[in-house]
Amino acid sequence: MKIIVIGATGTIGREVVKALSADHEVVRIALKDADIVADITSKASIESMYRKVGPFDAVASPAGYAKFGTLDELTDEDYLMGLTNKLMGQVNLVRIGRSYINHNGSFTLTSGVLSQEPMPGSTSLSMVNAAIEGFVRAAALEMTRGIRINVVSPIFVTETAEAMGLTITPTIPAAKVALVFKESIEGHRNGEVVDVRKFV
Ligand SMILES: NC(=O)c1ccc[n+]([C@@H]2O[C@H](COP(=O)([O-])OP(=O)(O)OC[C@H]3O[C@@H](n4cnc5c(N)ncnc54)[C@H](OP(=O)(O)O)[C@@H]3O)[C@@H](O)[C@H]2O)c1
Repeated sequence: MKIIVIGATGTIGREVVKALSADHEVVRIALKDADIVADITSKASIESMYRKVGPFDAVASPAGYAKFGTLDELTDEDYLMGLTNKLMGQVNLVRIGRSYINHNGSFTLTSGVLSQEPMPGSTSLSMVNAAIEGFVRAAALEMTRGIRINVVSPIFVTETAEAMGLTITPTIPAAKVALVFKESIEGHRNGEVVDVRKFV
């Protein structure tokens, strides 16, 4: 398969690229240092990326940003950034990519466990993650040509916790999250929110 990995240089994205590269042709997308530079907050940039890639079979999107912060801390701009970046960035990958993806292709987006298990400071992330999961469940009902769509819901990634100097448990190594993307792409799931803890 020819697979586009959005956020290919990130903590999870690097492992997704590794997990897929042995068996598939992978096109790495990020804001810099990638095979193709594209910005998911811009519909024009997404459209241009799909045109450059040509026919493809799957999109994996371990990408998207929303801000952590309390109700008192988060500004209008902070909330809007999560909506524009992590939510609509990924939604537009699907809306635009539907016309370019091959028959029987698949989209695998990313949410996060904060959609179902919030914590103080997670209002923006919880809101955005829940919206992505709602989008995926509904979009699956409208996919044609055998196209599938799923969303991977990670818990805190071990490498991210280490980089932030946090001692949170449990965490999951990025390489294990990557295997969930691989399974979503190579398997038969459709319209599912896949909790990474079910794979550990
Ligand atoms: N890490 C965790 O603990 C964790 C837990 C739950 C959910 N998640 C979710 O998993 C996803 C990936 O997380 P991560 O920790 O791997 O992120 P990360 O390390 O910050 O990497 C982000 C990746 O996305 C790319 N990117 C950023 N903005 C972009 C844009 N506008 N257009 C295209 N590419 C863009 C970055 O490229 P550049 O480097 O070029 O900017 C980088 O490759 C996010 O949705 C995050 O919310 C992560």
